[in-house]
Amino acid sequence: MTLYWRIFLLNAAVFLAAVLLLLGPVTVSTPVLLGEALVLLAGLVVMLIANALLLRIGLAPLARLNRAMATADLLRPGSRTTVTGPHEIAELTQTFNAMLARLETERATSSGRALSAQEAERHRLAQELHDEIGQTLTAVLLQLKHAADNAPRSVRADLHQAQETTRSGLDEIRRIARRLRPGVLEELGLHSALRALTTEFTTSSLSATAHLTPGLPPLDPATELVLYRIAQEGLTNTARHARATRVEVHLRPLPDAQVALLVRDNGRGIGTAPEGAGISGMRERALLIGADLAIGRGPHGGTDIRLHVTGSTTAPRPQENAR
Ligand SMILES: Nc1ncnc2c1ncn2[C@@H]1O[C@H](COP(=O)(O)OP(=O)(O)O)[C@@H](O)[C@H]1O
Ligand SMILES: [Mg+2]
Repeated sequence: MTLYWRIFLLNAAVFLAAVLLLLGPVTVSTPVLLGEALVLLAGLVVMLIANALLLRIGLAPLARLNRAMATADLLRPGSRTTVTGPHEIAELTQTFNAMLARLETERATSSGRALSAQEAERHRLAQELHDEIGQTLTAVLLQLKHAADNAPRSVRADLHQAQETTRSGLDEIRRIARRLRPGVLEELGLHSALRALTTEFTTSSLSATAHLTPGLPPLDPATELVLYRIAQEGLTNTARHARATRVEVHLRPLPDAQVALLVRDNGRGIGTAPEGAGISGMRERALLIGADLAIGRGPHGGTDIRLHVTGSTTAPRPQENAR
């Protein structure tokens, strides 16, 4: 039934009830007596309430659709409104669902493209840092050594000091380059890369440990990169926001050739903090490989980041090697 007829029939039912009542024992004198006026007023109130209730029931599918539209979130895809109610509303719901599906696909494709571009740019930066500045600093280091060997005793200590500073600068550049492009991921595989990454976050006040179960199913490079980047953002957030003393990275195979990543800290918990670029980046990467991402409180407080890779890639793989 169309919305038009539905509302018309609801109203007609109320009017009919009123007319039937008038045909009954009700009489209205002129001028109206107080008792009669009270009865009419009560009747009017009952009619308005009945009409409001019936309209609410009749328009419920519209309210449901409205809620679904207000809460639709492209970073949490897959939720669809059930198609019910009068013809127009059912059609509207169907159109909305189709639009949502289209937007989700487009979002996945465009964020896939953006992430590929980002990875390619990081790769280029890492290469340039390593090849250009890294080589220059290495040459400076050699020159300083040569100078120190031939210098008078009075300046030798200063030259050694300069050598040390240059060496730590070189280390710093190598570290930044590694963070920009997880080269170990390609060279040594996911386990070693995650282990190296975790070790980097250990400080005097934070103990970071990796617990990696062997026997992972074969993963494509895009999935490995997503696992790595999500662990990296999780660890960065722990170091930056959590005030934690411990953080653990767990990676284990699940039944059905699936993989689960867990980053768990014992910090102050994420609470209701608004999501920033880091967390929405995690969501986009998870979407890219069709994985489920859950961020919330851990069983003993702190923050848990769980990623379940289900194995169906939905978007183009990031071109880590693209130049
Ligand atoms: N492990 C954590 N412990 C406590 N708070 C966290 C943690 N991770 C994230 N948060 C909170 O969530 C917010 C959003 O994180 P994120 O999206 O990564 O943005 P950013 O790190 O740039 O602030 C942070 O500002 C912080 O308040
Ligand atoms: Mg962050």
